[in-house]
Amino acid sequence: MFMIVIAVAALACSTRARPPAFNYLEDPYAAENESEEVRSAAIKRLLEVFGMEDPPAIHGRMQPPQYMLDLYNTVADVDGVTKDPYLLEGNTVRSFFDKLRSEQVEFRFNLSTVARTEKILTAELHLFKLRPQAALMFNRHHFCQVSVYQLVDTSKGNNTHERKLLSSRLIPVHSTGWEVFTITQAVRSWMVDEGSNLGLHVVVRTLGGSQMDLKLIRFASGRNHHQSKQPMLVLFTDDGRRSAALENTDPDGMDITSSLPQAPMPAPSSRLARSVDHLEEEGVSMPCQRLPLYVDFEEIGWSGWIVSPRGYNAYHCKGSCPFPLGQNMRPTNHATVQSIINALKLIKGIETPCCVADKLFSINLLYFDDDENVVLKQYNDMVAGSCGCH
Ligand SMILES: *[C@@H]1O[C@H](CO)[C@@H](O)[C@H](O)[C@H]1NC(C)=O
Ligand SMILES: *[C@@H]1O[C@H](CO)[C@@H](O)[C@H](O)[C@H]1NC(C)=O
Ligand SMILES: *[C@@H]1O[C@H](CO)[C@@H](O)[C@H](O)[C@H]1NC(C)=O
Repeated sequence: MFMIVIAVAALACSTRARPPAFNYLEDPYAAENESEEVRSAAIKRLLEVFGMEDPPAIHGRMQPPQYMLDLYNTVADVDGVTKDPYLLEGNTVRSFFDKLRSEQVEFRFNLSTVARTEKILTAELHLFKLRPQAALMFNRHHFCQVSVYQLVDTSKGNNTHERKLLSSRLIPVHSTGWEVFTITQAVRSWMVDEGSNLGLHVVVRTLGGSQMDLKLIRFASGRNHHQSKQPMLVLFTDDGRRSAALENTDPDGMDITSSLPQAPMPAPSSRLARSVDHLEEEGVSMPCQRLPLYVDFEEIGWSGWIVSPRGYNAYHCKGSCPFPLGQNMRPTNHATVQSIINALKLIKGIETPCCVADKLFSINLLYFDDDENVVLKQYNDMVAGSCGCH
């Protein structure tokens, strides 16, 4: 069902140029095999659109970090359509859980799923500070200095680890909740040399500079505390796919929230749709317009690894572009001239212009990658915002 719609959408304006289909009547078995092949090829191609070779293998589904869910809801509406394309600097946000799960305040993150080509924009260490223990209530300190160090191996073959200060901040002793430290430099160096990733170390000191008892100032660890408080690395990157598209985006196509609901050619109501069908039966083709096209991830078999959305409305453009083209057809000058030439029949073989998507919006996907990290990724040009005669 899904593929049929895609095929129709792709061929809407070129039915005459379509190669002859396999003769299904002659051999129904061949047709069945053929359609299975087409299906798997189409799904493979769709994965490529989402930047993947194979669907991520999901072992046991974990609860996505609340931070990633909140981030998704901030950048995307219920259908996954980007609310504001300038909210995120890059187009990818990756979250990683600590692999060390140490009792000490030491963390290590496996970044092997980050592509070499991804540009590292910002990296953050998210630590959940726990409520101080009762004994501390009578402590004379109100603030503590929390410093995050990158562990570096200064001399290969020597066991001693040096450390490099990445970030340091005063934190109220009695506070509880998430603390975020910027560790971009460390992640950049790990991306250059994976073997240099020895992890991070956190040190808490009094304002006087003496090391504080870590039994007093505590951060949740992956080992002893609830999953929702696990130490996490959040990485903002760009895979380079957006920049090219942003450059040629129509500036009035930017304000998505205002232009989507009142798109010039909204999907017809069901009553209108019936009358459109009726027109088509009579051989009168409906004018170029935007119609729904729901891409259901569950139907495609992707609901295991995609957290949100469950599917999205990509819309499709359908209809004729006959002379005269009104402004509601959003014609280019070129299309207008072509429709005139077609109407005048001055030259043989000149068709009427095509009904195509002339404004496209991006969608966001929140999904589990191969390593069960939760990733938020933005994909350009996924939703037809409006249709026009081109
Ligand atoms: C269709 O595929 C099945 C199994 O793959 C095979 O046994 C059968 O011969 C194929 N039929 C045709 C007509 O190719
Ligand atoms: C990181 O994860 C990948 C894939 O799960 C694995 O092959 C690799 O050995 C891991 N690296 C380390 C240092 O644990
Ligand atoms: C290892 O490092 C220590 C301290 O920096 C130094 O004294 C020692 O000579 C080093 N050993 C080797 C084998 O490099």
